[in-house]
Amino acid sequence: MIKSVLVTGASSGIGRDVVRQLCARGLAVVATGRDAERLAALRQETGCYAASFDLSQPEAPAELYAAARAALGGPPDALVNNAGFNRRKGPVTDITAVELDAHMAVNFRAAALLCREAMRDMLTRKAGHIINVVSTVVWHKAEHYSVYCASKCALHGFTACLIKEARPHGIKVTGVYPGGTDTPFRALERPDYMKSESAARMIVDTLFVPDDVVVHELTFRPMVETNF
Ligand SMILES: NC(=O)c1ccc[n+]([C@@H]2O[C@H](COP(=O)([O-])OP(=O)(O)OC[C@H]3O[C@@H](n4cnc5c(N)ncnc54)[C@H](OP(=O)(O)O)[C@@H]3O)[C@@H](O)[C@H]2O)c1
Repeated sequence: MIKSVLVTGASSGIGRDVVRQLCARGLAVVATGRDAERLAALRQETGCYAASFDLSQPEAPAELYAAARAALGGPPDALVNNAGFNRRKGPVTDITAVELDAHMAVNFRAAALLCREAMRDMLTRKAGHIINVVSTVVWHKAEHYSVYCASKCALHGFTACLIKEARPHGIKVTGVYPGGTDTPFRALERPDYMKSESAARMIVDTLFVPDDVVVHELTFRPMVETNF
């Protein structure tokens, strides 16, 4: 039974709605992002714990996990690795080392290190659930998405291995692959894409499947999307 959850990327978009929906179900939630003001507003609205961390920093994932443990008075039952961004849309000829490192640091490394922290506790307890928010970009690929796609493919590969490592110990691991969702993730509004609360509902529901079921991969898209 999942009673407590650590959610990254919770100051905006999908993650914020994940926090809202988990709190509405009465769970204890630690919400994190960089924007302390938006996190404070979310805490005020939902009663979640809020912790501001910049996950591009190598030590931040372990520090965040320790802070979440302290806030909850013990390890979270579930981890939702949702923080991510795509600031490099363009041809491969334009990519820079700085951009590559920035995307890999947040979209992959931080999620992987948080999985490490959570797994150490979950292995002891022989229970828990880790959800990694990937993207349908790993299925369809796309020109001018090479940096973002590579960072999400890294998370996809890592998640697939973790699924196998965790299963014998009773730990559930889910890779979530959303398609286009109308959030501040992209500069332009896309009202034809999924609402963030819809994407959040898909994620939250995977935490509440029957005990004898695990969702390993969950792909979903807005009805308008045809890139499959
Ligand atoms: N929207 C889509 O169409 C779509 C499709 C497929 C997958 N996804 C994935 O879904 C996840 C959520 O995206 P979204 O659409 O909800 O985007 P969003 O509204 O832009 O939210 C992104 C979240 O990630 C956090 N974040 C970014 N950089 C961070 C950093 N350095 N340290 C800590 N937190 C950081 C942001 O917090 P701060 O700004 O406070 O730092 C924010 O809370 C991402 O992993 C994204 O790749 C989105």
